[in-house]
Amino acid sequence: MKAIVIQTYGGPEGLAVVDLLAPVAAAGQVVVATEAVGVGGVDTVIRSGALAAYGFKEGHIPGSEVAGTVTAVGDGVDASWIGRRVWAFTGTGGGYVEQALAPVEEIVPLPVNLSAVDAVTLGSSGVVAHFGLRHAHFAPGETVLVRGAAGSIGIMAVQLAARGGAAAVAVTTSSAERGEHLRRLGATHVLDRSGDGGEPAPDGYDVIIDVAAGKDMPSFFDRLNPNGRMVAVGAVAGQPPADFGMKIMAAFQKSMSFATFSAHTVTGADRGAVRSEQFAAASRGEVETVVHEVLPLDAAVLAHQKMDAGEVFGRIVLTP
Ligand SMILES: NC(=O)c1ccc[n+]([C@@H]2O[C@H](COP(=O)([O-])OP(=O)(O)OC[C@H]3O[C@@H](n4cnc5c(N)ncnc54)[C@H](OP(=O)(O)O)[C@@H]3O)[C@@H](O)[C@H]2O)c1
Repeated sequence: MKAIVIQTYGGPEGLAVVDLLAPVAAAGQVVVATEAVGVGGVDTVIRSGALAAYGFKEGHIPGSEVAGTVTAVGDGVDASWIGRRVWAFTGTGGGYVEQALAPVEEIVPLPVNLSAVDAVTLGSSGVVAHFGLRHAHFAPGETVLVRGAAGSIGIMAVQLAARGGAAAVAVTTSSAERGEHLRRLGATHVLDRSGDGGEPAPDGYDVIIDVAAGKDMPSFFDRLNPNGRMVAVGAVAGQPPADFGMKIMAAFQKSMSFATFSAHTVTGADRGAVRSEQFAAASRGEVETVVHEVLPLDAAVLAHQKMDAGEVFGRIVLTP
């Protein structure tokens, strides 16, 4: 089968198309014939070599979410899965392939009218947005800022906050066109990346969902309302400054909270339940998936070039 591997760490050209033996499902696993493969921000970070110290070796297959049809099951897995269309989490790699392996507890059936492309646009990001907002104790009537809203996590966080009754949903983005699209999804204030420009910002935020982190992150502590909560769910702008804890202490009198959130801390059953609900909502048109572009699997280099250039609004999807 065709697969994409990281042959050399560094730029996108280090990705190569290779031919591998078809995988065999071990106990507890399924094989999914992939129709769509999501390209995530973390795939480009792994490809760059920045995570080499965490055990990612050259030869690694990037990608963690796929959708397609189950073609085989390992020992202990109900054979009735075979032939069903599913979304699947393949782990920290193994997604950019024609046939993917996934643990059976990480697959979710697809509604008949949800495309595989939409499923891999929503599958991981929707769960991060949902549980990120919950981790922030978001409640109806509160004012929310989504920082780094133009990615698939932010796009879902905006929709969930708006549907959840937020009094205002502000977003940061570098693009007026993306801002207009985010406004159609529920954003009420479109701000530049600094959080100041674009249009007058709300006076303060009860909740900040931060996909960006980076050196500017501490400047957003000051914009939290008393008892405000900021949850970092990503770090597309890199790590915050080393002294950011001091900045939290400087906001002491606001009783503000700062937290991180990783979907890995939610049980597989809870993630699966939320994914099923979100897939159903998307199939009814209640949630919009934003697909930046669909490219063939062997155009993974181009997909990563577009990611590195910051061109992507929503998600790039590869189709084998
Ligand atoms: N918490 C979890 O469980 C979990 C799970 C999966 C992934 N993640 C993390 O989530 C992140 C990827 O999320 P995503 O795919 O939604 O994001 P993304 O598409 O990679 O980026 C979102 C947006 O952030 C903005 N941005 C880029 N650089 C920025 C900067 N320097 N300052 C401010 N904004 C900037 C860009 O929009 P504009 O150009 O319009 O500003 C970009 O479109 C990664 O850090 C990944 O590791 C977390």
